[in-house]
Amino acid sequence: MDGKFIVIEGLDGSGKTTQLKALAGNLRALGRRVEETAEPTAGATGGLIRDALSGFTPRTGTEIAALFMADRVAHNVNPVNGIAKLLSQGVDVVCDRYYYSSLAYQGVVSDPEWVYHINVDCPEIRKPDLCVFLDLDDEACLRRMGSRPTREIYENENTLLAVRKRYFDAFARLEGRDRIRIIDADRPPEKVAADIFAAVREILE
Ligand code: TMP
Repeated sequence: MDGKFIVIEGLDGSGKTTQLKALAGNLRALGRRVEETAEPTAGATGGLIRDALSGFTPRTGTEIAALFMADRVAHNVNPVNGIAKLLSQGVDVVCDRYYYSSLAYQGVVSDPEWVYHINVDCPEIRKPDLCVFLDLDDEACLRRMGSRPTREIYENENTLLAVRKRYFDAFARLEGRDRIRIIDADRPPEKVAADIFAAVREILE
């Protein structure tokens, strides 16, 4: 049987990394094989993206959207450790960010319609079995932003609030197509982890 493909999404600072590890641990405790992964990837295109996000190589929003899409295709089809390969071997793949991030972040800095089509309609970009969105409301978002140094071009208040709105626009558009669960991330990590695991168990049954 194929593994499950689960994506964790959220704004910077929403606790994705912690929750991804907790979820992977919970799945392994059930005896499942799990691979943890992330976008942008550690591959060549992922490197170009990081240079753009840090401001080292200035690029337009549209260039960055195209790079994310190319990185995502490679992430899916890599014959050694790509998402499709792992799932076909029965391994669960848990991924920190996926096309929902492009719809949200690049939707703000490029044409959202085009960003939607190059991702959602791309034959080599697989639809996840579940997307969990770790939500922080505007206030919690700003609170967490205040305590973090700015590292990347999108890490400022105005952009993040616009990105959060775009996430919800994308989720509304994908309703009935993608399985998306929105979880309040402004709570103790154990509570968030329990809710994520409950949502994941529904797709294991
Ligand atoms: P990270 O901080 O979770 O590693 O993600 C790096 C940044 O990349 C984060 O600010 C969100 C951004 N991003 C996009 O803008 N579009 C995408 O498609 C992805 C996957 C990430």
